[in-house]
Amino acid sequence: MTNAMKLLGTPLLMGTLLVAAILTFFALGVGNPVPWLLTLVLFATPFYSKWRENEHFVVWRDEYSVGIAEMDDDHRKLLNLINHLQTAIHYQTGEKFEQEALDELMTYTRYHFQREEALMQQYGYPDLEVHQKLHQEMVADAEAFVKDYRSKGYKALAGVADYLKNWLVNHINGTDKEYSAFILQKTHFV
Ligand SMILES: [Fe+2]
Ligand SMILES: [Fe+2]
Repeated sequence: MTNAMKLLGTPLLMGTLLVAAILTFFALGVGNPVPWLLTLVLFATPFYSKWRENEHFVVWRDEYSVGIAEMDDDHRKLLNLINHLQTAIHYQTGEKFEQEALDELMTYTRYHFQREEALMQQYGYPDLEVHQKLHQEMVADAEAFVKDYRSKGYKALAGVADYLKNWLVNHINGTDKEYSAFILQKTHFV
């Protein structure tokens, strides 16, 4: 779907529904359910459209917190960068914006992994190597997706963004909580 079609899609559909509802009210009368049904769909359309738009974006939730402020800040920043990338996809902002959003997300992901691994090392986390391997695998998978994007262009971008979004959200909300629980216990923060 082109950018113009995307932008026009909802107003065009609402305009059509409005005309159809008015015409059917005149043709079938207020006692007939069809015009009422069309009116209902007409009012529901903008909410559905907004919901479809938002489902690609990630919202930070308190339950994502690992209890260590600097790591939470990194994770928030990563989710913001994912949303930045989703904006590039959803609004088809062009190749330059796509590349920048993707590069920034990959760069920050690597930076965050280094910080996290250094923290685990500092506190003697026993599963550091396992965690480190997960990070390395993710970077390798993500690089393969990015390579795919570089050869196929825009049509491959949604796959990259979905992979990064799902991996990061699951990792932040699962595996990362294992090292943070260890560190918090060790430092008597809990
Ligand atoms: Fe993390
Ligand atoms: Fe991690």
